[in-house]
Amino acid sequence: MSIRLGDIAPDFEQDSSEGRIRFHDWLGNGWGVLFSHPADFTPVCTTELGFTAKLKDDFAQRGVKVIALSVDPVDSHLRWIDDINETQNTRVNFPIIADADRKVSGLYDLIHPNANDTLTVRSLFIIDPNKKVRLIITYPASTGRNFNEILRVIDSLQLTDNHKVATPANWQDGDEVVIVPSLKDEAEIAQRFPKGYRAVKPYLRLTPQPNR
Ligand code: BEZ
Repeated sequence: MSIRLGDIAPDFEQDSSEGRIRFHDWLGNGWGVLFSHPADFTPVCTTELGFTAKLKDDFAQRGVKVIALSVDPVDSHLRWIDDINETQNTRVNFPIIADADRKVSGLYDLIHPNANDTLTVRSLFIIDPNKKVRLIITYPASTGRNFNEILRVIDSLQLTDNHKVATPANWQDGDEVVIVPSLKDEAEIAQRFPKGYRAVKPYLRLTPQPNR
């Protein structure tokens, strides 16, 4: 089954390196990141999970829980976690789903047979507190993901959910943002953006980040 933006993230129950997980219960009322990697004991995946562990405080500040997944069994995950901790100078502080029966891989379309018959692709889903899927990316096995970019997208989603703005190319937290084109009423604009705005074009109006 393929998943589209705005869909409810499929619920599941599966084993993990931290015991049995009922996904929606585990997510609770906060944000979540679910990401798959091709296999345990592989180099790029080792760096990805190590880097993600080091971002623990960054995810926590944003109210985001992280969970990884591959089709390897729990005992493999546990042995590999020792390697990640040792080689990446960190401690893996999130569960890794052991999707040996590929139940979750099926729900989230994580095996792309024309790329590889058996290994999960490098997909990542950002899930909001309503359990809606807000970002989907899929990377090739040979390319590790940029997890700072994931934090940047979460910052954008959390900002734009609460203000009538969108974030431009390469935006970083604190940069100018754009006023959504649907907002036309000047009185409302003045009330929402008291620091003012500059109109580069009628459809491209930039304003200081409103929650700063
Ligand atoms: C890796 O994580 O290094 C990797 C996994 C599968 C294929 C290629 C690389």
